[in-house]
Amino acid sequence: MIRLTDVQKAFGSNRVLRGVNLHVPKGTSMVIIGGSGTGKSVALKCVLGLVTPDAGLIEVDGKDVRSGDRDAFLARFGMLFQGGALFDSLPVWQNVAFRLMRGALKRPKAEAREIAIEKLRRVGLKPDVADKLPAELSGGMQKRVGLARAIAAEPEIIFFDEPTTGLDPIMAGVINELIREIVTEMGATAMTITHDMSSVRAIADNVAMLHEGVIKWTGPVAQMDASGDPYVDQFIHGRAEGPIEAVR
Ligand SMILES: Nc1ncnc2c1ncn2[C@@H]1O[C@H](COP(=O)(O)OP(=O)(O)OP(=O)(O)O)[C@@H](O)[C@H]1O
Ligand SMILES: [Mg+2]
Repeated sequence: MIRLTDVQKAFGSNRVLRGVNLHVPKGTSMVIIGGSGTGKSVALKCVLGLVTPDAGLIEVDGKDVRSGDRDAFLARFGMLFQGGALFDSLPVWQNVAFRLMRGALKRPKAEAREIAIEKLRRVGLKPDVADKLPAELSGGMQKRVGLARAIAAEPEIIFFDEPTTGLDPIMAGVINELIREIVTEMGATAMTITHDMSSVRAIADNVAMLHEGVIKWTGPVAQMDASGDPYVDQFIHGRAEGPIEAVR
């Protein structure tokens, strides 16, 4: 469904992506791990076209993402941004239903609101949150509103950038299960970035580790513990000692 071939991206002298190769089969869940600042968020933004790569090819469903109709392309995606990126002047339910209130997916207002409340419930938020503004919510609640928005239009492809960061362990478990369900029941293709190893194990079919601008290791999650890759081992065990330098 998604294929990156030799994708490169630099910001000035900062060579972030130095030839990323990655394949995410349709209906599977890929989790990207890697140190802070290694380019995980940039890689997702390249697929969406929010960041333009300097070189390489990105294909979705066999088509170069630079070709074709942009609106139709984006309509297939849902995205949870790492920083939430909620619209701060819109109440929660209108954030969640944003796409359902305009364009091709436009529904009557009452129906859009109903769908929003149902999606809020799926991320563990009560209906009374619907009419609040994002600033009135805690950080973890805002994250969950972002998640509800990402899944609201039931997209084919969903990107989650740090979906469980800032959530308590129980809520993180709920969100992990939700992501798993979206892939297995709705047949969506998912790419998730996380630092949370319990989340990796709960969500992933396949794992890819980004380090120094390339995919250092990728494989089925069941093979991660026996990868034999010292970078992967250091990362998944959170060791200070190893080939990955702690100062970046
Ligand atoms: N728009 C931008 N302009 C300049 N530099 C950028 C931009 N976006 C990202 N970078 C740089 O690219 C590098 C990778 O950033 P990115 O956000 O992808 O990291 P990350 O792997 O997602 O890290 P984290 O785990 O902390 O979220 C960083 O050095 C960052 O400063
Ligand atoms: Mg990031």
